[in-house]
Amino acid sequence: MEEVNIEIKEAISSKGKFWPWWPLLPLYPYGCRKTLVREIIPQQIWSFEQLQGLYYVAVPVRLTVVKVSGGLMIFNPLPPTEELRHQLSELEELHGPVLTIVQPTASGLEHKVSLPALSRAFPKAEIWVCPGQWSFPVNYPLNWLGIPINRTKVLLHDGYPHEDLFSWISLGPLDIGLGRFQEVSCFHKPSGSVLVTDALVGIHQDPPELFEFDPTPLLFHSRDRGDQPLLDTPEARKKGWARLVLFSSFLRPDLLDIPSFFYVLRFAFRPGLFSPKSHFGIFPFSWKDGWENSARELIGQERPLLQIAPVLERLVFPRAKETILEWLDDLMKLEGVDKLISAHFSAPIEFNQNTIGEFRNEIKSRNWASSEGDWRFLGSVDKALLKTGVVPIDPLSKFKD
Ligand SMILES: [Fe+2]
Repeated sequence: MEEVNIEIKEAISSKGKFWPWWPLLPLYPYGCRKTLVREIIPQQIWSFEQLQGLYYVAVPVRLTVVKVSGGLMIFNPLPPTEELRHQLSELEELHGPVLTIVQPTASGLEHKVSLPALSRAFPKAEIWVCPGQWSFPVNYPLNWLGIPINRTKVLLHDGYPHEDLFSWISLGPLDIGLGRFQEVSCFHKPSGSVLVTDALVGIHQDPPELFEFDPTPLLFHSRDRGDQPLLDTPEARKKGWARLVLFSSFLRPDLLDIPSFFYVLRFAFRPGLFSPKSHFGIFPFSWKDGWENSARELIGQERPLLQIAPVLERLVFPRAKETILEWLDDLMKLEGVDKLISAHFSAPIEFNQNTIGEFRNEIKSRNWASSEGDWRFLGSVDKALLKTGVVPIDPLSKFKD
């Protein structure tokens, strides 16, 4: 086993990865964003991934680039660091300029926050946004948020871009109290790929490649106490990844304890731990026996496991299962549908008519939006929001004629 000397081993230098607007949504890794580029469909679709998260609970967030007639289309923004712009310029040299930027979600803050900067990076691109954009705590108009309205169009209301290549399918709108949930998915007909934002994800047991550049979040969470060193082994990476999946899926998994402040302090600030990378030994988590079984329900062993993220199921769709089923019906009717590319976790994943049909049947027959076990915390949040009137009982009522 090897203790990581992160200062030396870490392959990331901050050069070209600076993101000055990180305080707008202060998520790990803050102002330094490494971007990993992968070609998903040769000469047609590319994935650009960065990490994003809280307290080392980081998961990949994806910007997808698709070749269109005369240039490129971006689906889901990411912070346009110098590195990302350089990587995109290499694609532009081969395939033409970025013509279109699509911001396909009304609610996904982590996708929306970088649209103004990305729009400025491509001043000639046409911007398409999902209807019902909103901001919190104050709901500003688009131009106040830095989105150039003179070249911005609204999906559905103003039509759709590149209809020769894509079919566009809306999920929602749903009233979620503070604003609306809606995302517009896009079916790329030549490759049979469905591009979604948050609605569906596929999770595999192997940590995403992006962690090769800095495995610290995995190693940090693979430990059981704050005085344990960050050890870099394949097992530690997988264990850390399984815990990150549980955190990001349930926010507070059921088999996680938050120890007392004094217990945490007992193991902090010890020799060898005096580094911000290990948070000075502060590790406010304690996992109970059996947490691995919870992780196994979310993580595919051989291939990524297709799922609706529990946060979405329990906080956005708890009373709108039919909406999800109807949307899956629409996707199943797409001719030649073959794979899914979502804005988080693994991509591409298998997503053909059989896969969708089986997935749909599984949702239809199982208990939906549970409040038991790992779902307990999300369930309590939803119940509190309902009780205080923040979210409506019927999320569709506002949008019915
Ligand atoms: Fe998201």
